Amino acid sequence: MQLIGNVLPTVLDSVSQVIWVVDHYGRILYTNPAGIEALGYDSADELVGLSSHETLHPCRPDGTLYPASQCPMLKPASTGEPAHGNDEWFRRRDGSFFPASWWASPIDLPEGRGVVYSFFDATETRDLERARLERDAARIRADESRAAQRRIAQSVTSVRRQTARDLHDGAQQRLVSLLISLRLTRDLLPDNTADAFALLDGAISDAQTAIDELRELAYGVYPSVLTAKGLMAAIGSLALRCAVPTTVVGEFTERLPAEIESNAYFVVAEAVTNAVKHAEASQITVSVEVTDSLRLTVADDGIGGVVDHVSSGGLTGLMDRIAAFDGTLVIDSPPGRGTTVSAEIPLKGGTDRRAAPMAYEHPHRAF
Ligand SMILES: Nc1ncnc2c1ncn2[C@@H]1O[C@H](COP(=O)(O)OP(=O)(O)OP(=O)(O)O)[C@@H](O)[C@H]1O
Ligand SMILES: [Mg+2]
Repeated sequence: MQLIGNVLPTVLDSVSQVIWVVDHYGRILYTNPAGIEALGYDSADELVGLSSHETLHPCRPDGTLYPASQCPMLKPASTGEPAHGNDEWFRRRDGSFFPASWWASPIDLPEGRGVVYSFFDATETRDLERARLERDAARIRADESRAAQRRIAQSVTSVRRQTARDLHDGAQQRLVSLLISLRLTRDLLPDNTADAFALLDGAISDAQTAIDELRELAYGVYPSVLTAKGLMAAIGSLALRCAVPTTVVGEFTERLPAEIESNAYFVVAEAVTNAVKHAEASQITVSVEVTDSLRLTVADDGIGGVVDHVSSGGLTGLMDRIAAFDGTLVIDSPPGRGTTVSAEIPLKGGTDRRAAPMAYEHPHRAF
């Protein structure tokens, strides 16, 4: 005990945490050096004997009075129970306030039950906590915005799919019936109605053209092969229809989630359309690779020079589509040396199905 009696003051002098002992009435009996420094005092004599509550927080930071009867730190003197809080503000000698974390434990003193206080300046802890909360909030906002982008991409896809189906099942079928009726009518006409024949032939050819155009339109809105046979088949078919010779490299037969297939398809479709429209290219190569992610590359040998800061149009749409799936999009387009659009979409639980070269190779087909 003697050892503790000698050693304890030395220990209290050396710890960085504040230790105060207050009597049953809340008057300061003892402070260690950390307790003097924390509030900007010079010596223990300036604090001992003062009311702890009036010294620490006679008022709140907004200037309103803070009655001692409301102070939770004094409670252990009457309840005998320890108390703790992180939301008190303490006032320094110069009048400035700081947020404090504190602990108050009852202690039996000769004159009655007092309280041992320990506290520290929580400014740094609060700043760290605030930074952590802001980081979490930013992460949540980013997740929400990605989810929103995804919902938009999905709803655009489903509108496209529905529109293509409506075009096919509605207007296209009516035109087909019209065409059949016209043909039947022509077959029923007597041979001497040459003018009527000519008129009907014109109408039949118009109806056939309208059907072909409508089929192409529906295909552009949402190609049926994508639903029926998946991404590789749809890209192969896109390459066949392309006005610039297009080679497709890659092979995998498994189906990917529908939303990934359709977004990947429209990424390739936009990049290929750009190459045809803007690049003056003589060759386009589309590569598809599936491992734990889906990697798509559309490269042309055209003029290059795509500027980075595009704020609208197809390329922005590509970025939104890819971002919605936590993917990345890189456009490499040195002037005069072609353009390569590379997109990567992570796949959950993907397998290693690397591309076999030249699975599809299509000759140029002009419209
Ligand atoms: N493969 C390419 N080669 C050369 N320039 C390109 C290529 N792809 C895009 N660009 C340039 O980048 C611009 C932006 O392309 P983006 O796809 O965003 O818009 P757009 O094709 O002009 O319009 P939209 O896609 O809305 O029909 C194009 O106008 C073109 O100047
Ligand atoms: Mg475009």
